Amino acid sequence: MIKVLSTGNLNHNPRHNQRLFSLMRFTPVDLSLIRKYNTAVPRYTSYPTVPFWKEHIGEAEWIANFQQRFNDENHRSGISLYIHLPFCESLCTYCGCNKKIATNHSVEDEYLKVLEKEWVLYRNRMKQVPVIRELHLGGGTPTFFSPENLDRLLNFILNRGILHPRHELSIEGHPNNTTAEHLKVLWNAGFRRISYGVQDLDPVVQRIINRIQPFEKVKHVTDQARAIGFKSVNFDLIYGLPRQSLESVENTISKVVSLKPDRIAFYSYAHVPWTSKAQRLFDETDLPSAEEKLNLYLKGKRMLLKAGYTDIGMDHFALPHDDLYIAWQSGNLHRNFMGYTTLQTDVLLGLGVSAISDVRNAYAQNEKKLHDYYAAINSGNFAIKKGFFLNQTDMDFKQHILDISCKGRTYFKQRHTLLLQEYVFPRLSTLKEDGLIDYDEQGMSVTEPGRHFIRNVCSALDLYLHKTNNEEMVFSKSI
Ligand SMILES: C[S@@+](CC[C@H](N)C(=O)[O-])C[C@H]1O[C@@H](n2cnc3c(N)ncnc32)[C@H](O)[C@@H]1O
Ligand code: SF4
Repeated sequence: MIKVLSTGNLNHNPRHNQRLFSLMRFTPVDLSLIRKYNTAVPRYTSYPTVPFWKEHIGEAEWIANFQQRFNDENHRSGISLYIHLPFCESLCTYCGCNKKIATNHSVEDEYLKVLEKEWVLYRNRMKQVPVIRELHLGGGTPTFFSPENLDRLLNFILNRGILHPRHELSIEGHPNNTTAEHLKVLWNAGFRRISYGVQDLDPVVQRIINRIQPFEKVKHVTDQARAIGFKSVNFDLIYGLPRQSLESVENTISKVVSLKPDRIAFYSYAHVPWTSKAQRLFDETDLPSAEEKLNLYLKGKRMLLKAGYTDIGMDHFALPHDDLYIAWQSGNLHRNFMGYTTLQTDVLLGLGVSAISDVRNAYAQNEKKLHDYYAAINSGNFAIKKGFFLNQTDMDFKQHILDISCKGRTYFKQRHTLLLQEYVFPRLSTLKEDGLIDYDEQGMSVTEPGRHFIRNVCSALDLYLHKTNNEEMVFSKSI
């Protein structure tokens, strides 16, 4: 049973709240709350969330916003680059990412040529040489590309910019196709972080998800990355996959912690078969129920905490020496499309098919189909498919949702009193009755049991969601 927390008056000191969280780590969760809150809600890597963005935003307006933010920020904090490399050698049936399965590696050259053109298009709109603070290669599978082609891409991008003295370069690698040559090329270019998709190590689960990846493989690439000099290795794990059980999760986590990855993302499986058609390839009756799924999470979380990890924000764990842990401790954690980051730059430029850019008051997403992306860039245009321009109220509520996701608390602004009273406080009142948050007129904080429902808590501050009824159509369930 859940213990309805008496947190006393809302305490606005972050250290107090962190102590509060750590004191109450093992609070059991009430099943009736799981049933009540297991609704379709966004994961909040943006606000407003993508389904509320507009199709065909004005390209000129987007570029004007981009240029203005770039001019303001480039020499102050530098910029972040996200490069989407979409190809994968085989299809994992659970996958919700934007990917393209390819067996023929000749696709690499054409893709890189178009990416290079897109970078030149943006580069021509920059009046200063870009200072690259952060660069992330995501996918798909970036290590699908040969080491020579990754080297070519990185040279092309980095030769047209300046690396910030405290740069952070990172990549998502697939354990099955990351080689020592990939790692050497990346290390030479300045990469010190790598994230491996591990997901689950149970042979039965791996068969169903079509991802055969033995533990020895994961260990090999982890040891290799460390030997070459990578200072932070992250593993992605997923709970809620078909045929996972408490036993299989226990087995996976005990093998994972034996390798001591510096960070772990322990994602809730997002079941969205209406957009990710491969998820129809397995039997839905093999999926755990909401209660079973939460128990898988709690089992994994307990083991990770016991092994010395701290849970940070939504779904993330880190060892105390890791920068993500340090950022969380000091209240400097940030969240964007790449997930949690230790840096906050106000210009995140996404290059590649489906890539998303965020310049604080505007979002833009590239065409999601390879053919459309190629056609736009090859004809000398940007490839913007959809986006959103934020007004001041949007920006304030974006900040609330970021604060809740990263710090577990936020402070309200007087100018929104009416909006808060009409839309937000009625929802906060229910969350408070259920012991998931505490709030007053000035702000709110999430209690330890509330952290299991953080997406629901964020959704109380989502003014767009309050004004529609179609959320069942587009988001995965919160648990
Ligand atoms: C682009 S992939 C990682 C890189 C590489 N493609 C790989 O699989 O190793 C990003 C991560 O998204 C997560 N992911 C993909 N589909 C998901 C889903 N349906 N629900 C939750 N997490 C998912 C996986 O943990 C995966 O590692
Ligand atoms: S999980 Fe990774 S390798 Fe598997 S299909 Fe998705 S992007 Fe590709």
